Amino acid sequence: MNVIEIRAGSVDTNSLVLRVANLAVKLGDDGYNASTLEYEQAFVFSVLESKGVVYLANNGKYDVGFVLLEEMVRGRVVQLGLAYTVPEMRRKGIFEILTRRAIEDAKVHGFGKMVAHVAADGKSRKGLLKFGFEENKGKLTIGNEVPDLVLDLEKSR
Ligand SMILES: CC(C)(COP(=O)(O)OP(=O)(O)OC[C@H]1O[C@@H](n2cnc3c(N)ncnc32)[C@H](O)[C@@H]1OP(=O)(O)O)[C@@H](O)C(=O)NCCC(=O)NCCS
Repeated sequence: MNVIEIRAGSVDTNSLVLRVANLAVKLGDDGYNASTLEYEQAFVFSVLESKGVVYLANNGKYDVGFVLLEEMVRGRVVQLGLAYTVPEMRRKGIFEILTRRAIEDAKVHGFGKMVAHVAADGKSRKGLLKFGFEENKGKLTIGNEVPDLVLDLEKSR
């Protein structure tokens, strides 16, 4: 599995963002907000412009999944954002590979905590608990937002 790391201004960002957006529009098939390709593209660009990172997985034939790491403006907290794996490649550990990469990257960049917003019955919730994420229970607030899950990056070193 080839993981492509996309940062703002990296070579060929334009076409890479379009590749992520092409996957993101498929989220509609899973009952998530079905947006247009243009909207998804603009969203991915906005994540990159706020110093976020996109991790895109390619199986050697086509793009199979992505995870977004969104930088929070305040403090040393990063947010794990949208994630998607194409249906035929699910349960093969692609989300896990991408999320582990995001966690390692966040540690290297000196972040203290990673937060995630996930639905109570969301498919990614169970996976994140395996990585050491814990229920936030309102302990950490970022502006008006209260994340659902928190990972202490310093403890999980
Ligand atoms: C949630 C989502 C991103 C997970 O992607 P994925 O690549 O299938 O995730 P993984 O393969 O890493 O892990 C999923 C499960 O497969 C299992 N798994 C991983 N590798 C496996 C293998 N080789 N054999 C069998 N099972 C395996 C994991 O243990 C995990 O099991 P669990 O659900 O019981 O915890 C994907 O299901 C998806 O895109 N869903 C629709 C959109 C969505 O819900 N996005 C998240 C919110 S934005």
